[in-house]
Amino acid sequence: MLDIKIQKTTTPKAKPDENRLGFGNYYTDHMFVMDYTEGQGWHSPRIEPYHALSLDPAAMVFHYAQESFEGLKAYRTKEGKVQLFRPEKNGERLQSTHERLCIPTIPVEDFVQAVKTLVEVDRDWVPSAEGTSLYLRPFTIATEAHLGVKPSDSYQFLVIASPSGAYYEEGLNPVKIYVEDEYVRATPGGTGFIKCGGNYAASLAGQMKAHEMGYSQVLWLDGIERKYVEEVGSMNCFFKIDGVIRTAPCVGTVLPGITRMSCIELLRDWGYTVDCETRLSIEEVMQAARTGHLEEVFGTGTAAVVSPVGQLYYEGETAVIGGGKIGEVTQRLYDTLTGIQWGTLADEKGWVVPVE
Ligand code: COI
Repeated sequence: MLDIKIQKTTTPKAKPDENRLGFGNYYTDHMFVMDYTEGQGWHSPRIEPYHALSLDPAAMVFHYAQESFEGLKAYRTKEGKVQLFRPEKNGERLQSTHERLCIPTIPVEDFVQAVKTLVEVDRDWVPSAEGTSLYLRPFTIATEAHLGVKPSDSYQFLVIASPSGAYYEEGLNPVKIYVEDEYVRATPGGTGFIKCGGNYAASLAGQMKAHEMGYSQVLWLDGIERKYVEEVGSMNCFFKIDGVIRTAPCVGTVLPGITRMSCIELLRDWGYTVDCETRLSIEEVMQAARTGHLEEVFGTGTAAVVSPVGQLYYEGETAVIGGGKIGEVTQRLYDTLTGIQWGTLADEKGWVVPVE
């Protein structure tokens, strides 16, 4: 158990209007910080007033991108309670990210304690307007000042918090997705299965191209054959074809999303066949759309929750899904998941962790 020192701010900020939060625009009064020094391990866990960091310009994170991050949310229930959703899963995923990037791992229980303590201290910042939550962003940076390429010998792990609304401006209206056939996001043996900034930096050119063409996000294809669907910029992606629900297997190039795994579990409980082992080609998807068998497409993610996809554009052809309306399964998943997260539905799965 961490011995977290708490230093509270003497100049609390004014809180933003809960109905106009957007995503990731505001930050709370405090942040969690913990240092790693070679020979000493992780040490000095503390909560400090939110402040800018002071880093050496040679800090290795700036040069070789040794950086990891996570995303999870704290929800306020109607009764005013505050709760987290499966935070231990984020802690586990952060460990696999650290292993891949040669960053010393953080015990899952310490990760959860860090997140919970920040939420406790900034509890008043958990918004209560419909559809809002306190988005939590844990991350680790390499801090050693050194220009040779090697793992850093010092790091900082931080957690910041941002009261946020919906990730997409569209809310629950179906988003339009551009299927990217020029750039790739991940290749086997690379870093596609972990959460690191570099994955997102590499995705920006594709995302910008999609935006210019009027699409909200990119659907990435596999990096070898450019044939199989993998994931969307900030979400995993599901396809309902002839009643069967399919999503890309997490075999090294796809992020193992916590919302993804929760949706698979719910869908199987409800009796759906979910195939998350077989790769699905974009050609099968487009063919299913042409013949009227593509029933629903939706994305899942912590920030995005469950987002219906209304259009897919691939090599000059547009597949329109569900006539621009949210599908039945997408809506049921959204309602169930958000019901559990905001406490309006019973947490039969034991996914919710209260913050006292
Ligand atoms: C999340 O869903 O929490 C993410 O990290 C996606 C993102 C906003 C990059």
